[in-house]
Amino acid sequence: MPRTQKANTPVVALIMGSKSDLDVVKGALTVLDKFEVPYTARVMSAHRTPDAAAKFAEEAEKNGIKVIICVAGMAAHLGGVIAAKTPLPVIGLPVASEPFNGLDALLAMVQMPPGIPVGVVTAGKAGGKNAALYAISILALQDKKLAEKLKEFRTEQSQIVELADQELQDSLNCK
Ligand code: RP5
Repeated sequence: MPRTQKANTPVVALIMGSKSDLDVVKGALTVLDKFEVPYTARVMSAHRTPDAAAKFAEEAEKNGIKVIICVAGMAAHLGGVIAAKTPLPVIGLPVASEPFNGLDALLAMVQMPPGIPVGVVTAGKAGGKNAALYAISILALQDKKLAEKLKEFRTEQSQIVELADQELQDSLNCK
């Protein structure tokens, strides 16, 4: 059984190819915590522990997982390997590394052959946040409380931008 990070049964699984991906993962975990979404986070590699990754994917649905976020850098095959073994939605979060700065991982994730999709977000902090929000919007289809929280988040986000706009207008003394 996966180790859970929260008391409730996890509905989101974050799988990272290496512990070195943790910094990017933290952004996603912060968002999931904010929305009180139970998750499990694991280190499993498409190349270094392929059997464990495949087994996790095969058992994910029966273990109550609804969405899987795969975090990997370099030749990032993790999302594809996981998606090949489960019908659950898989989100790919590429990690930037030397020498190609994440473009390698992005292309490896997004260039899935037709039939096995992986929904890919951008690399870096924005990607971590968006991977979690994307997972939440999928879960919100079946969860009214979560849908309401997502709506509130969007409203707050808009208000922050409106406030920034107002402050800028005031500081520049715009007409
Ligand atoms: C990928 O290789 C991992 O996702 C990580 O981004 C990258 C490098 O892994 P380490 O050498 O840091 O373990 O599989």
